[in-house]
Amino acid sequence: MPAPRSTTSLALLSVLALVACGGGSDSAPAAKAGDGAATPAPASTPATSVATATSATDSIGRQVFMTCSTCHQANGQGIPGTYPPLAGSHIATGAPEIPIAIVLHGMSGPLTVEGKTYNNLMTAWGPMFNDVQVAAVLTYVRSQWGNSAPPVTAAQVAAVRAKTSARKTPWTWPELQAFKF
Ligand code: HEC
Repeated sequence: MPAPRSTTSLALLSVLALVACGGGSDSAPAAKAGDGAATPAPASTPATSVATATSATDSIGRQVFMTCSTCHQANGQGIPGTYPPLAGSHIATGAPEIPIAIVLHGMSGPLTVEGKTYNNLMTAWGPMFNDVQVAAVLTYVRSQWGNSAPPVTAAQVAAVRAKTSARKTPWTWPELQAFKF
């Protein structure tokens, strides 16, 4: 039966086209995923709605982490002396305000992570990624490679973004320690 088959492949083609377009931009898929997660689910399926939100966060986190892994490496180990590790990092897994502030505004100058010293520069990612994306990537980082710190929410990112809006240069470690979040 040729007619139904061609209808099916047309439908398939348009789905593929949609997926291809969504993958073409950095911010669009995250915004869509965020909207999707916010859409109220039918009252009868609360478990499904939680699962959907979690997997959306996970896939946004993995996608954003491709940017971070250029330096911090896909296994989160960094490069000794150059890029500090996120795996096992007490900073990445500590009070969420600190890693949020680092991702939003970047960081430079002397820093000790898990006994090794660094004196390098991380640029600001706040202008590039929205609150949902920053929350998702930190949630990802805090749950990978043996890390097991609580998730970071978009509301926490929004709060730090508002409090640190005057910040125009990367943090130094002493400045981060002194800042009242
Ligand atoms: C261009 C390389 C580069 C990229 C890309 C990068 N970082 Fe960094 N990151 C660094 C460097 C270098 C430092 C240490 C800065 C210093 O020496 O003061 C750092 C420090 C950190 C720290 C604090 C130290 C630690 O090891 O826990 C965190 C957390 C962090 N980065 C997370 C991220 C996340 C999340 C991303 C992706 C959104 C990211 N970084 C992208 C280079 C990078």
